[in-house]
Amino acid sequence: MALLPSIFGSEQRDLVGIDISSGSVKVVELSKTGARYRLEAYGSERMPPGAMSDQGIADVEAVGQAIARALRKAGCKQKGAAVSVTAANAITKIIEMSADLGDDEMEQQIKFEADQYIPHPIEEVNLDFQILGPSERSDEMVRVLLAACKSDTIDMLAGAVGIAGLKPSVVDVDTYALENACELMAAQLPDNGLDRTFAVVDIGERSSKLSVIHNMETVYTRDQAFGGHQLTEDIMRHYGMQAEEAERVKISGELPNEYRNELLPNFMNDLAQQISRSLQLFYSSSTHQGQVDHILLGGGCACIEGIEASVQQELDIATSIARPLSGLGRSLKARRGNIEREEPAYLMAAGLAMRAFDS
Ligand SMILES: Nc1ncnc2c1ncn2[C@@H]1O[C@H](COP(=O)(O)OP(=O)(O)OP(=O)(O)O)[C@@H](O)[C@H]1O
Ligand SMILES: [Mg+2]
Repeated sequence: MALLPSIFGSEQRDLVGIDISSGSVKVVELSKTGARYRLEAYGSERMPPGAMSDQGIADVEAVGQAIARALRKAGCKQKGAAVSVTAANAITKIIEMSADLGDDEMEQQIKFEADQYIPHPIEEVNLDFQILGPSERSDEMVRVLLAACKSDTIDMLAGAVGIAGLKPSVVDVDTYALENACELMAAQLPDNGLDRTFAVVDIGERSSKLSVIHNMETVYTRDQAFGGHQLTEDIMRHYGMQAEEAERVKISGELPNEYRNELLPNFMNDLAQQISRSLQLFYSSSTHQGQVDHILLGGGCACIEGIEASVQQELDIATSIARPLSGLGRSLKARRGNIEREEPAYLMAAGLAMRAFDS
């Protein structure tokens, strides 16, 4: 069984973060000097119809070509890619193992025991692990994060990235990428996020991914099949438009007042309800005591004007737009475009790009 490309990476690498999502591919390249990050390149490309399905990549060639176009547009230089699988496609589990095992012994032992944790035949999964630190229960044990993903999912990602001329260096899980993106946004959080509990939500085209983060570590995650696609469908139905036209007028805002007074508020209300429901589930399912006192909204739908005010009002929790990129230094080519308007959509890609700086 091949462990590479692994779910995690460990060495420092030259990487571009590639968010392969249902509506578009987004790429982000960062560099770091001392503690300061710089945005080297970023860009996106719409996903051709049929390239993605609810399960992920449907047409490897079409996705690979879309990645290639996004990289070219952005002017990315790096040859390694960090991509991710959705939490639904990954299995992660924290287990305890003897502290005196070497890396190789631990790998052998984990493979041997993995069928207890993974509901697929072991020869059909890629498996990786990361030692988190000492166990709280015993000095002789360490906590180990085990991550697994079906090999065919990884093969499709690697295939698409390969078509775009890149090496798939890191395969991450969406939830970790979201957590990593929060490091870039610490200054936007009360107390830089330290000892605080906040939620970050990526509201995309077909999905919403919510993570509750305490002291900059993920304590709860929930994915839902809800996204901007719903609003596009409302526009199509209401005004008898085709998908492409509906998407265009949605972004440009060339719609009658009725849209702003009815369809849009209804969508924002649905969105706030989804977030509220996820937070209720967090409170009821979790032993974690913290109270969520801030929400960061990211993903393309966070570009909708007034969305943060609407969520804040519905939930009575301070809400702001996730800004992973505009606080960073920027290369000349990364100064093109309207970063303040677009950056919430780059939340996941920015988190993936952070994988270049793993220690
Ligand atoms: N200015 C805007 N106004 C309204 N909607 C917008 C705006 N900008 C982007 N969107 C919407 O955001 C959605 C795309 O978001 P995003 O790029 O995060 O999705 P995705 O990552 O491709 O999809 P997913 O993560 O769900 O697979 C689309 O529905 C798009 O119409
Ligand atoms: Mg997305």
